[in-house]
Amino acid sequence: MTLNDLEKLAQSGEKIAMLTCYDASFAKLMELAKVDMLLVGDSLGMVLQGAENTLNVSMHHMTYHTKSVAAGAPNTVIMADMPLGSYEHDDEAAYKNAEWLIRSGAHIVKIEGGGSKVKTARYLVDRGIPVCAHLGFTPQSVNQLGGYKIQGKTDESAAHIMADALAMSEAGVSFILLEMVPAALAKKISAGIHTPTIGIGAGVDCAGQVLVIQDLLGIYTGVATKNPSDFKTPRFVKNFLSETNSIQSAVAQYVSAVKDKTFPAAEHSY
Ligand code: KIV
Repeated sequence: MTLNDLEKLAQSGEKIAMLTCYDASFAKLMELAKVDMLLVGDSLGMVLQGAENTLNVSMHHMTYHTKSVAAGAPNTVIMADMPLGSYEHDDEAAYKNAEWLIRSGAHIVKIEGGGSKVKTARYLVDRGIPVCAHLGFTPQSVNQLGGYKIQGKTDESAAHIMADALAMSEAGVSFILLEMVPAALAKKISAGIHTPTIGIGAGVDCAGQVLVIQDLLGIYTGVATKNPSDFKTPRFVKNFLSETNSIQSAVAQYVSAVKDKTFPAAEHSY
């Protein structure tokens, strides 16, 4: 699989199945289970490091885990998150950090937000770095957004996300990731731009889906120091391991469910 193959897959109407991945063992398992694309997400700050959010993830963390994933899945497209502080200040620094991720094994980098980030996305794309734009709920802005909240619920906020998606698409990004937005808005955005959309908590009409692997396996119960019974599993999460007896088949079932559009169901959408 290459990025071009994924574009063709999206054009053919076949859904793209994507999962987060942070190490070589899972990368190998996911490649065997035919996951289309792996995301080395800065969610590793939460699911690997036990932090409350993604804000303290560094470029060193990201390149370390990207190298590990690339070692385990040499034939799968790898997207790596640019962590907080690695792309917002100036475009040249953004390029250098993106280049570092690409040299570590990523094929495409992901940045969060629209607005001023459109210029950064264009700067990277013009210099040969494929980019995914992450819109809707953007975890690196959790403090500004006032917590883990659905975005695009009001007409104004929906129009803002739509405008960012159009601008990012025109800037030449390869994918637009939509997190925690109403399914109807994600459907409208997906139909209104040429760029394939990948959803997480964004309904079934995106060109593809992504989930955090720990969520798919039902093993993430919040910050390490907090009581698991206080953790509220987000609506968009489905535990695929509870329906089978191995991680490999849980991942394979996720891939089939994305491809046959049974995941996400209405109960996983907003
Ligand atoms: O960091 C991450 O894992 C992500 C997903 C939640 C999409 O950005």
